[in-house]
Amino acid sequence: MNEKTLVAQALEKVLGEHLTLEEITNSIERPKVSEHGDLAFPAFPLAKIMRKAPQMIAQEIAEQIEPSEDYTVKPIGPYVNFFLNKAEISEATLSEIVEKQNHYGNQTIGNNGMIPIDLSAPNIAKPMSMGHLRSTVIGNSIALLVEKLGYQPYKINYLGDWGTQFGKLIVAYKKWGSEQAVIANPIKELLRLYVDFHEKAETDPSLEEEGRAWFKKLEDGDAEALHLWKWFRDESLKEFQRVYDLLEVEFDSYNGESFYNDKMDAPIQILEDMNLLVSDRGADIVDLTKYDLNPALIRKSDGATLYITRDLASALYRKKEYNFVKAVYVVGNEQSIHFKQLKAVLKEMGNDWADDIIHVPFGLITKDGKKLSTRKGKIVLLEKVLGEAMTLAQSQIEEKNPTLENKEEVARQVGVGAVIFHDLKNDRMNSFDFKLEEVVRFEGETGPYVQYTHARCASILRKTNWHPAAGQSYALNDAESWEVVKLLKDFPSVIEKAAAKYEPSVIAKYVIDLAQTFNKYYAHTKIVNDDEQQDARLALVYSVKTVLKEALRLLGVHAPEEM
Ligand code: ARG
Repeated sequence: MNEKTLVAQALEKVLGEHLTLEEITNSIERPKVSEHGDLAFPAFPLAKIMRKAPQMIAQEIAEQIEPSEDYTVKPIGPYVNFFLNKAEISEATLSEIVEKQNHYGNQTIGNNGMIPIDLSAPNIAKPMSMGHLRSTVIGNSIALLVEKLGYQPYKINYLGDWGTQFGKLIVAYKKWGSEQAVIANPIKELLRLYVDFHEKAETDPSLEEEGRAWFKKLEDGDAEALHLWKWFRDESLKEFQRVYDLLEVEFDSYNGESFYNDKMDAPIQILEDMNLLVSDRGADIVDLTKYDLNPALIRKSDGATLYITRDLASALYRKKEYNFVKAVYVVGNEQSIHFKQLKAVLKEMGNDWADDIIHVPFGLITKDGKKLSTRKGKIVLLEKVLGEAMTLAQSQIEEKNPTLENKEEVARQVGVGAVIFHDLKNDRMNSFDFKLEEVVRFEGETGPYVQYTHARCASILRKTNWHPAAGQSYALNDAESWEVVKLLKDFPSVIEKAAAKYEPSVIAKYVIDLAQTFNKYYAHTKIVNDDEQQDARLALVYSVKTVLKEALRLLGVHAPEEM
């Protein structure tokens, strides 16, 4: 049972005639300063009922509470303050972590329910943007979080691999492209062709016509068009794969937009049968007035389908295929309306499970306060950013620990980890500015700082050659270790909160807090001191190391043993 419930029950025995257990539980606070104990019950709301000064009420309650081994009680002003039994709680918490190790915080509440997660989803023949990076790392962390709670995540990379742009690309390639150039540098070359096409089309409108014709051929299954499209897709994917390998993110499916080419008739048929399609100047729309939304355009007057038509087909497919408990879409905030419309149309079609569709939006990454744009080749190439982060990490390691073995691998884990951590540490809706030098710093609220704290714990345990063993006591009762123990004890509920809000930043903020609190403890306490609490202090170091590593893992970041 948790301490709050314990304290609430003790208070109920005294206050049962005035307040319910729930009311008591809800009013219990965590004092801001540790001199006021760990939990506090405010007496002033009782003043009216009991017709006494709150200070006196607090005094009386404190006197009537039954003595317990779990806490001591002390009235401070209008509050009844509870000081938890540090030794008992540290013993229980550290024993649990030492026993469960990286399984600490695991739960089965998910009951193996499936959660498809739509993440990354870059567009073929275009560079992966920082927005796609955000989707990739946020989605990956959400997958790890829900898995920790016993759900089955299923990561889908819904590639942008279909659309009129492929007609234009085919035209540009046939006119101005070369095979070698595409193979040597697929995305750069395809982007060049695409940009070229648009520049030339400004003065030569017949190009647009040609592009449309080639897209029509592609849709009709023309062999040459299909061959080129598939080749563009394969070459682009190879390049994306290099980034995924660096990030160590894997996908269960690469079913992108093209996968739904033959699956859009079903939703359209249902909409027709249900009389939900309204003709509007030759186009077919679904009216969403009652949802306070603009109508969803399902089919253009020339018969062409749209982004939302595919997402309707993909949602139906995912429900049928995975029978999901939740379907998560990690996509930038600028697509919020799209997902609102998608849910509304699904709801109109009579699908109650439309409510289980969760759009997890996020803000932009900016550079010097300005939006990063993919147009006109003004792009931040992800691979370049990751490469620079690794180089910077390498030079930091070179300076701090020149004799470290496997320096390159550690530099990769630190550099890439720094970029991921930086992305995840802010509430996902916040936009943030990207300054590489800040990302890879070993101090401040950074990934490397947390990794460094983990490595410090590893080093202490190596030097003392400490291992958990039966018969050790983990009872700590000093004020400094108590701050660390409380955080360790919180970890399972922190995971739950992060998963419930689809918010990896909850974990990132927690892990910074834990690292800072531990470093304060470390600066203040002699860990190796050959007294009866030494095992307990080392068990604390061991537990901090275990939880830091597991929390970083949930963010998709490695924790090297040395750095
Ligand atoms: N490819 C799209 C883009 O880059 C994102 C796709 C998101 N997923 C979805 N099911 N709509 O904007």
